[in-house]
Amino acid sequence: MLNQQDNELLSKVGPGTPMGNLMRQYWIPFGISSELAEPDCAPVRIMLLGEELVAFRDTDGKLGLIDNYCPHRRASLFFGRNEECGLRCVYHGWKFDINGDCIDMPSEPAESNFKDKVKVTAYPVQERGGLLWAYMGPRGTAPELPHLESNMVENTSIQIYQRECNWMQALEGDIDTVHTLFLHLGLAQYEDAPEGSWAWWHLQNRAPHFVAVDTEFGTLYGAFRPTEKGMNYWRFANFLMPFYAMTPPGVLGLGSKFRAWVPMDDTHTLAISVNETAPGGRKPPSEGNWATGQTELHPQGTGLFDRFRCVGDRENDYLIDRELQRTKSYAGLPSIFLEDQAVTTSMGDIVDRTKERLGTSDQMIIRTRQRLIKAARALLEGESPPEPDHPEWYGVRSGGAMLPVGVDWVEASSELRKGFIKHPELDLAVIGGIPAV
Ligand code: FES
Ligand SMILES: [Fe+2]
Repeated sequence: MLNQQDNELLSKVGPGTPMGNLMRQYWIPFGISSELAEPDCAPVRIMLLGEELVAFRDTDGKLGLIDNYCPHRRASLFFGRNEECGLRCVYHGWKFDINGDCIDMPSEPAESNFKDKVKVTAYPVQERGGLLWAYMGPRGTAPELPHLESNMVENTSIQIYQRECNWMQALEGDIDTVHTLFLHLGLAQYEDAPEGSWAWWHLQNRAPHFVAVDTEFGTLYGAFRPTEKGMNYWRFANFLMPFYAMTPPGVLGLGSKFRAWVPMDDTHTLAISVNETAPGGRKPPSEGNWATGQTELHPQGTGLFDRFRCVGDRENDYLIDRELQRTKSYAGLPSIFLEDQAVTTSMGDIVDRTKERLGTSDQMIIRTRQRLIKAARALLEGESPPEPDHPEWYGVRSGGAMLPVGVDWVEASSELRKGFIKHPELDLAVIGGIPAV
């Protein structure tokens, strides 16, 4: 539960808000390279942290992200001509480069120096592993991109979906391991999963013990279940400032992934998942009582909220199938992603946290909210967050592991939780069974 003031502080990200200011300290992923596939291709409308922007790739292949509104008389630069290293407003021909400088003003007399005084807001963009990143912060020189492993190794995939609700309630689903056993796997039995796999352990106990701690990069939880041999089966997952979640993909140490919950505005969020494809791949489930369908997307449109839009949405109740719910899957929704989509958007555009009743399994959520609120308040007092200057802190993994009963779980798992390290001793075979969520 949060009071109204803290709930607003946590949720709202527009220019000048405390959380918006905090997010602008970090690099923000906002799209994929193929949206701007070649030099001088069509510009793309981007909504990011409540700002209407236009992204374009110039003649030299460089990327720009500028204010949607032309500084002359406010026509949209989306309609601009992308030509000769700049975006030219079609209303009166003013032209802007990727730095936001006005490089041509054909509507003013040739001797005028007015163009040298005009600029449009422009944010630096970087491209890494097929992902587009923006820096909307105050520094003259942007920090380094965070060392997120799955965006830096080969064999990764990127998947993006838009979610029509506030970013934080969406993110909270990813740091809430218990919902997996109900929403996604409520009818699955442990016997359905291969013996020794994470799902086999996971499904035997739907109310694990929880511990959560602060880390340098954000927060970390461990959920554990006793097994019969003096060992505990643990699942570790990370939250990384300011909006990344690493849900456990399977065996800790064998793969990397993250999901960024990027606020487009206060009520629309991009879920950007970057998953390293495990060598040999993950076994698809042969059979089982869970949603196995795909999350279908509409074709990409040009509107601010027409990118990565799911076919299942509020209007059609996310394509719920009550017969499927009676017989085969707990929620009766077509895919795991739409299951999450339905429940988190059903809370409303911005969930009213003054009315919730949190239990012991919500302690990671509580800790993460406090971490974010504290960082936003510290920034108001002039204290910048440390993470942007420590990109190496982001090189971590999540997953499951067996640990002896009684050990210090943070210490005992630390080597396996580090990124960019190979662990040939670990067995990929135990990943199979039920897809990671
Ligand atoms: S409004 Fe853009 S050039 Fe006039
Ligand atoms: Fe989920």
